[in-house]
Amino acid sequence: MAVRPIVMADQPILRRKAEPVLRITPALRRLIDDMVETMRAAEGIGLAAPQIGESLRVIVVEVPEDEEVPGSGILHVVINPEILEASPEIVEGVEGCLSIPGWYGWVPRHRSVTVRGLNRDGRWIRIRAEGLVARVFQHEIDHLNGILFPDRIQDPTRIWRVQPAREAVSEPVSAGLSSGLRD
Ligand code: NI
Repeated sequence: MAVRPIVMADQPILRRKAEPVLRITPALRRLIDDMVETMRAAEGIGLAAPQIGESLRVIVVEVPEDEEVPGSGILHVVINPEILEASPEIVEGVEGCLSIPGWYGWVPRHRSVTVRGLNRDGRWIRIRAEGLVARVFQHEIDHLNGILFPDRIQDPTRIWRVQPAREAVSEPVSAGLSSGLRD
């Protein structure tokens, strides 16, 4: 396993539609391991394969149950994920992205979704997710379609940049913003 560099938003791979996985091979399992390790090292709560330079339809999601304890949530690995059902109810929440460091925004998402795909053993799985976990699934599946969270924000006043703490001069970064979702 290895922590891999995260691709930044200006790279074309993040604007491409990722390719479906046709076969689950040892190389694919290594890619998944690297995705999990990279996500955890970056303290993210989700990652899509294009973010480490592989244009393949694979996502990992791990939202901690206890915000203070990384790794305390359920790890989901989904190959060729699809949203089967989405609640009509739309909710806004703060998102960030490991590929767009320092930026956050209010993004509308379905409150709950049912996601179907394959697990790392090639078996069909179906996950019903709500709240933050549902949000992360929608964010990661967007990555597989070349969509980044700012694309989902109509109102430019709903997106902002948080300076790293060492650069903050006059205004402290509020806890709510600095602990925003990053994936
Ligand atoms: Ni992202």
